[in-house]
Order: sequence, then C-alpha cells, then structure tokens
Amino acid sequence: MGNDAIRGDTAPEDSITIVNNASGAKVTFPVLQGSCGPKVIDIRRLYGATDMFTYDPGFTATGSCESSITFIDGEAGVLLHRGYPIEDLAKHSDFMEVCYLLLYGELPTPSEKDTFVHAITYHTMVHEQLHKFIDGFRRDAHPMAIMCGIVGALSAFYHDSTDISDPYQRMVASYRMIAKMPTIAAWAFKYSLGQPFIYPRNDLTYAENFIHMMFATPCEDYEISPTIARALDRILILHADHEQNASTSTVRLAGSSGANPFACIAAGIASLWGPAHGGANEAVLNMLNEIGSPNRIAEFVDKAKDPEDPFRLMGFGHRVYKNFDPRARLMRESCHEVLNELGVDNEPLLELAMELERIALEDEYFVERRLYPNVDFYSGIIFKAIGIPVSMFTVLFAVARTVGWVAQWNEMVEDPNQKIGRPRQLYTGYEQRPYVPLAERG
Ligand code: SDX
Repeated sequence: MGNDAIRGDTAPEDSITIVNNASGAKVTFPVLQGSCGPKVIDIRRLYGATDMFTYDPGFTATGSCESSITFIDGEAGVLLHRGYPIEDLAKHSDFMEVCYLLLYGELPTPSEKDTFVHAITYHTMVHEQLHKFIDGFRRDAHPMAIMCGIVGALSAFYHDSTDISDPYQRMVASYRMIAKMPTIAAWAFKYSLGQPFIYPRNDLTYAENFIHMMFATPCEDYEISPTIARALDRILILHADHEQNASTSTVRLAGSSGANPFACIAAGIASLWGPAHGGANEAVLNMLNEIGSPNRIAEFVDKAKDPEDPFRLMGFGHRVYKNFDPRARLMRESCHEVLNELGVDNEPLLELAMELERIALEDEYFVERRLYPNVDFYSGIIFKAIGIPVSMFTVLFAVARTVGWVAQWNEMVEDPNQKIGRPRQLYTGYEQRPYVPLAERG
C-alpha cells in the first residue's frame, strides 16, 4: 500500500482507521514500522482526506523525518549511534571515529580513519580575514553570539562549498564545519580575554588542539594534560548527536529551504543557545552556585515544584528520556574520574549536584513526572574542572554537536521524500473583518 489514505472498510493490518464522530466518515492511514522504536501513522494524506490538520505543539508525538543515524529509547534510557550503544562508544571509541560513524554509517577501517582524521586536521585553520571579522564584536560579547555571527558568515569565505546539490561540496562543507568549530570557539574565548589567537596544530588530536588553542599562549610551551584531553574527547562523543532535538530540527528546517550549510549550522547554534536546550549546562552551573550549600537544596527543589514559579531544576527532565539519560550517567562517572585524576578531592559543586540529584530522585514531584538528570546536569562540573569557563559551556556543546547537525543535514538533503518544512496551525485569531479608516477609530 502506498501512502494513500484509504476510505471505507478495506483496512489492512498495517493501518489505522480514524472515525469522524460528527459525520461517521472513516479514513484509514498506513502504519509504518522502522527497524526499532514506535510505529508511525503516515498522515501525509490527512488534510486531503479530512480537510483537517493535526495539532501537536512542540511536536511531542510527531515524527518529522525518516532517519538512520541515532535511535533513542526514552523509556529504557537507551541511545544508539548507527546501532552502537553510547556506553560502548564512550568507552572504546574516540570523537573522530564517532564523527566518521555518524557521517558514513559504519565504523572506519584503520586506513579510512587515518584518511578522515588527516582531512579534518588539515581543515582546522580558518580564513585569516576572520581576525578582522571577530574584531567587530565587543570584548564582553557572549561567545555563543560570536559563534552565531561567525559561523553564519562562513559562506562568505567558503562560497566554493555551498552548492548543496553537489555531494562533493556537501562533504567539503561538512568537513570544514567539523574542523573549524574548535578554532572559532577557541578564538571567541581568546578574544574575550584580549589574548592572541592560537593557531591549530597538525600534530595534535582534535581534543588536544581545542585545549591548546583555548589555553596556550605564544609566550611559552603549553603542556596538554592527557587526562583533560581524554575527558574532553569523551564529552565530545556524549554530545555528538541526539536524534531530532530542537537544534537539529532547526538545522533540518533551515536546510529544507535549500539554505547553505553554514547558515543552517548557525541556525542550529542559535537554537542550542536556549536554556531549555544546550544552554542548560551553563544554567546548571549558575544554579549550583546560587544554591551554594546543601542546606539550601530543599528551598530550590520547592521552587522547581511550584507551578507559580517559572524556575526549573536545570539539568533535570527531558522530552524523550523518562528514565536516566545514559549520557548523564557516563558524565557522572567522568566527573569522578577527572576530579580524582586532577587531584581535586572534594569539588563542592559535585557534592552539591549529587545531593541535589539524590533529593530530587526521592521527591514525588520528580518521580511522578519521571524527571531525571540529563546530559547537562554533570557536564558543567567537568568543564569547570578542566578549566572551561562557564560562558564557554554551550559553545563546547555546539562544537561537539556540529557533526550531528551536518550528518542529519546531509541525510535530509539526500532524502528523496524531503520537502521544504512548512507546518500549519490552529488559527484562533479574528475572522475576516472590514478595514476601519483612521478617522473613524477610537
Ligand atoms: C538538552 O531534545 C534533546 O535531545 C535535547 C538534548 C540533546 O542532546 O540535544 O538532550 C539536550 O536540551 C537536554 C535538556 C536540557 N534542559 C534542561 O535541563 C532545562 C530543564 N528542563 C526542562 O526545561 C524540561 O525538562 C525540558 C525542556 C528538557 C523538557 O520539557 P518538556 O518535555 O516540554 O516537558 P514539560 O515542560 O512538558 O514538563 C512536564 C512536567 C511539567 O509539569 P506539569 O505541567 O506536568 O505539572 O514536568 C515539569 C513541568 O513543569 N518539569 C520540570 C522540569 N522539567 C519538566 N519541573 C521542574 N524542573 C524541571 N527541570
């Protein structure tokens, strides 16, 4: 059966029939089953068959696309990238390998990995004229504002990789984005300090390069901590992709109009910035600092539960996970490892976060709503331990998520069913009414 809606009673098993109780009319729609996860009702013919739209603010039950990149089972707390559990990738893989997996669907052979890493490494420099571009920002600009601005402008510097109909140009643009984000991010940080930019080095790994560009100065050699490099690489893996989250959906929607890849990624960065999404890691640290001590936890938990108070427990809850976010568990493990290896015995923020988690997970309000720590709850504590300033937390999330955005963007461009995204609405405004001349008003 195609994706045509069927009227009447000829309803096959892989379908669902809707009865309009007002008219008694029956319309049947195909039900599609993916390789795993919930089935979907194919409603592409709904309006033609019923003159009605669906209504689903926030897309809580809406599949926007077909994808084979990432699978999440929110009930079981499972996250797979191209079928591989995030726990295995975090333990056995590295970020460059995960980038290859997300882009191409398979783990690379040793030679494929060497070729890919070399290609990314040799795209880490940015156009020298970006020095002048960044000078246009105030020194106290939030680094996410700089990321939005610079990435959005990249098409002006790399116009030779903006023809989205050309698979080669799409690949070049994808590699450029993955490779250049750490350089742009580190430069945004250096700019805020008034320190000279540090250029990428081809003898360093992706994580080492980012650390070096962030913290080295021209005045002396900078020794990169293997512990910090390993922790950062794992953090990048844990943030790489996450199905159709808000920023990825933003990238897909922007890309559906044919916009160039740099503009689409800039749109994703803007969406990620929000405190309900990637901005939560910065908000968690600010919240923990505001709580200050365990004896104030109850006060903040009560605020989070108060329906009249807009305050939410940052780093808690998730649209999809109604169980522990597997990334939060891995991040908590990394917290302990990194703090121990760095000799940070009792990080008060980690103690506070763990006590907050314990109290919240025993509280009926959170239990009833199945609110658990998400990826942002512990990440800020590691970022702080490895020297990343709070204002750079979401920037680091954007650096990691860029590979997810470009992988999903490529999948969208190559999807034969792809159309420009154009949702409809439930209109509740005025019905048509006559214009009132100015002289007759008021
Ligand atoms: C990310 O989508 C992704 O995959 C995102 C992400 C990714 O990798 O891309 O995983 C990254 O964005 C993680 C989420 C980071 N955000 C935060 O930590 C901010 C705090 N969390 C919330 O704002 C909220 O939980 C969301 C935005 C994450 C999810 O919101 P939903 O799914 O729209 O849930 P909801 O607002 O409908 O909440 C359901 C109920 C409500 O209570 P009732 O109206 O039923 O009484 O739970 C309550 C909410 O008030 N609630 C919270 C809460 N989160 C939800 N109450 C207190 N504190 C919270 N954190």
